[in-house]
Amino acid sequence: MSQDDGCLICRKIVDNLTSAVMVFDPEYRLVFINTTGEMLFADSARHLVGLRAQELLTASNQTIENQLKQCLATGVSRTERNVVLGLPERQVTVDMSLTPLFEGVRPISVLIELHQLDRHLRISRDEQLLAQHNASRILVRGLAHEIKNPLGGLRGAAQLLDRELNSGELREYTQIMIAESDRLQSLLDRMLGPSKPPQKSLLNIHRVVERVRQLVRVEAPAGVSIECDYDPSLPTLYADKDQLIQAILNIARNAIQAVDERGNVIFRTRIHRQVTIGGQRNRLCVKIDVIDDGPGIEPDMMSQIFYPMVTGRADGTGLGLSIAQSLINQHGGLIEAISDRGQTIFSILLPLRNGNE
Ligand SMILES: Nc1ncnc2c1ncn2[C@@H]1O[C@H](COP(=O)(O)OP(=O)(O)OP(=O)(O)O)[C@@H](O)[C@H]1O
Ligand SMILES: [Mg+2]
Repeated sequence: MSQDDGCLICRKIVDNLTSAVMVFDPEYRLVFINTTGEMLFADSARHLVGLRAQELLTASNQTIENQLKQCLATGVSRTERNVVLGLPERQVTVDMSLTPLFEGVRPISVLIELHQLDRHLRISRDEQLLAQHNASRILVRGLAHEIKNPLGGLRGAAQLLDRELNSGELREYTQIMIAESDRLQSLLDRMLGPSKPPQKSLLNIHRVVERVRQLVRVEAPAGVSIECDYDPSLPTLYADKDQLIQAILNIARNAIQAVDERGNVIFRTRIHRQVTIGGQRNRLCVKIDVIDDGPGIEPDMMSQIFYPMVTGRADGTGLGLSIAQSLINQHGGLIEAISDRGQTIFSILLPLRNGNE
């Protein structure tokens, strides 16, 4: 193996670590950052290298530059646990290690490793969410299946009775029985959810989102604006077009219903790197956000919204999100939601795989 090959392998290893790795020079300027670091700062190494440590990070206890100074002066490594770091747009909780890098006996730069703790919390929450969701879907599907057959029998019997009856007054009752059976039947069909496995093809995600935007624009009141904010560089996706339309439509309809007569709904697309879904790490994911400025979801309802039959609306069946989650899970993806008064974001994460499996 040549020295170049060795360097390439080292670089690959460092980029695939789950910790963010950074190196700062004696002027506290960033000279190196790995791929996980780029993800943490949501920016590329090209933009980040050269920035001063305090432009990148603020630690809760003492300034990052003081810590770098101390590390360079003493030549001693240190690790701090549960540090809340302020990044340019958010806060994260990390275990942080500072290690001096020596040239001879003199420390010339400092290696910082950040091991993000809240990311692990999120991963285990995702896994729990998927497992619970699957269990409740199996229960609901089983129940719907059991009710479907006797319901078919009841409807058939009501139809036979309807044909035998001469009195128009009595037939009114059999007509009610038939109409209500049909209503229950379509509810059960929704409870059973998608019956076909996905029929995948290569597609442009913006065509799919635009189709949904067209559909909801027709349904939405005039005071609701429906905007888009797309990343035009997104690659094509291998997925079932109709299933994606159905999933995004269910989420978009909820957003329209939430804002009521007046409000804003935005469809946003972005690419995300190194996303873990259900324990599997994906190099690239497409993220489709549906954002509304409605009243938000009550905190005590938030943990239940993806379960079937959970609704906060008088005329809701509580199936929309559960079906959407199943459709996206069938594509190896996940739907997440965050909500505050005045802003709710539903995010659909879909892995982009190499090849077209
Ligand atoms: N954007 C949103 N803003 C506020 N609440 C929301 C939003 N999206 C979903 N919800 C809440 O989550 C509940 C569940 O949504 P879901 O789509 O599963 O069922 P539903 O809309 O009640 O009925 P269905 O979609 O089956 O007609 C909703 O009833 C609503 O209370
Ligand atoms: Mg709904």
